[in-house]
Amino acid sequence: MTDPHATAERILRRFARDTNLLIAGRPIRVSAETEDTATALAVAGMARALGARLVEDDATGPDVLDIEIDGDDAALSLGGTPLAPRGDAVGRLDFARAHMPVSTALAAELREAGTVRGLRIGVSMTLEPKTANLALLLTDAGADVAVYAHPDETDPEVAAALRARGVPVDADPDLSGAAEREAALAWLRRGFDVVVDDGSHLVRLAHEAAPELIEGWIGVTEETTSGLTPVRTMHAAGLLRTPVVAVNDAATKTGFDNRYGTGQSCVLAIADLIEHVDATVRDLPVLVIGYGPVGVGVAAHLTALGAHVSVAEIDPLRALLAVHDGYEVGHAEDLAQGALVVSCTGVEGTVTRELLELAAIVAVAGGVPGEVDLDESSLEPVAVAGAPVPHLEVDVERGTLVLDRGGCINVTAAEGNPIEIMDLSFATQLAAIRSLVEERPGIGVHPLPDDAVHHVAATAARARGVALDASPASSTTDTDWRSRRYRGVDA
Ligand SMILES: NC(=O)c1ccc[n+]([C@@H]2O[C@H](COP(=O)([O-])OP(=O)(O)OC[C@H]3O[C@@H](n4cnc5c(N)ncnc54)[C@H](O)[C@@H]3O)[C@@H](O)[C@H]2O)c1
Repeated sequence: MTDPHATAERILRRFARDTNLLIAGRPIRVSAETEDTATALAVAGMARALGARLVEDDATGPDVLDIEIDGDDAALSLGGTPLAPRGDAVGRLDFARAHMPVSTALAAELREAGTVRGLRIGVSMTLEPKTANLALLLTDAGADVAVYAHPDETDPEVAAALRARGVPVDADPDLSGAAEREAALAWLRRGFDVVVDDGSHLVRLAHEAAPELIEGWIGVTEETTSGLTPVRTMHAAGLLRTPVVAVNDAATKTGFDNRYGTGQSCVLAIADLIEHVDATVRDLPVLVIGYGPVGVGVAAHLTALGAHVSVAEIDPLRALLAVHDGYEVGHAEDLAQGALVVSCTGVEGTVTRELLELAAIVAVAGGVPGEVDLDESSLEPVAVAGAPVPHLEVDVERGTLVLDRGGCINVTAAEGNPIEIMDLSFATQLAAIRSLVEERPGIGVHPLPDDAVHHVAATAARARGVALDASPASSTTDTDWRSRRYRGVDA
């Protein structure tokens, strides 16, 4: 009989792959005939561990996922409708849009307030259906939007679908070297009021090669950790020439995108890939390097699939957190032997040649170039039944499987973070754009103000149908700061 855990994992991975939707927070109902009870229990247990909520028979709603176990497989329905293929790029774009209520609400507010009407906004991100929707939402809000994507991060069909809807897109998967740099500069020369960047690649290129273009910018909103680090270095060195809003650092971004989104999408992409060589994450020890929000999410999702996870960290606070989350924490060199090693640092050179030699499989969830110190010359494609498996190579010198040449695995080998997660991140982006345009902060790296973060969270909670208790009147109206303990007692 097939291992119920393996079947459960395959079913849940199929749901995530076919829809690009999030499992955490999703209402899920599992049903089965008596002979499939073990599988049903495994699916329910794994879904719950991944953050899903198990619901009763009478629960209804568009987000309810029904999993009807049938032997080693299952029939899946969402909101009572059997899951169907999303279709071509246009279908995937529209499917994503239908699951992005938070960004849609924030964009409608921008439109109503006229905040971005006529502003030139440049969006530089991995080009896939969710980012395409961010561009469309900004266009709907009245902005004049142009999109850039790096050749490695371009889905040509999505680019074509976006162009067909009137958004200029500078993204050509065939470019490389000097032509690629020239295309990025040409995009910058379009001239922008606001630049939405991911990894600060375009913002840094502008500072290096075309600083005169920055003079006209209202500012930048930066999506991710690895983009903010160099921008902060530039500011400390007195080189930054523009205000930057640190979208990444907002709780509505880091707490969900880095934690739940990257956790689900990277771990399931890894499991999808290693299945080609008949491996699962339960077959070998797993080492997560780096226990920031991404490491926390990756470790939690691996654990939910039944993996035995240990952690390596250099920061004592994060290491302590990993200990309290129940992981063995130690030196990477001591824990990497024969392991699946997942780098979650966003730091170049994290997986050294020594670790590469010790590990059985190496993958990256962080995402800076060179996170694995690869020996390109000894990489060879892995072939199954005579055909090379995309994104899977072996370092023949060391016998280590290398996933996607050390690229950010959920972006290059899968569809990126789940739609609901990017909905929240892009709602945070839209709030950051509003804050930048309305507040006009000076040159520097600025947090998104608390009230803006709170507004995004409240909008998302409403969209998820969350009923919030009202704050007790005393917490909002009591202005008496004195300790209650001594009130009414004369001095
Ligand atoms: N794949 C995605 O979709 C996605 C999404 C969000 C963020 N990211 C990227 O993932 C990376 C991590 O994000 P984060 O928010 O968790 O960052 P973070 O900086 O908060 O956490 C990284 C952790 O790694 C630790 N670390 C660094 N070098 C180490 C080493 N050699 N050994 C052990 N530990 C080490 C740091 O101490 C830190 O705690 C960033 O590059 C970020 O941009 C990727």
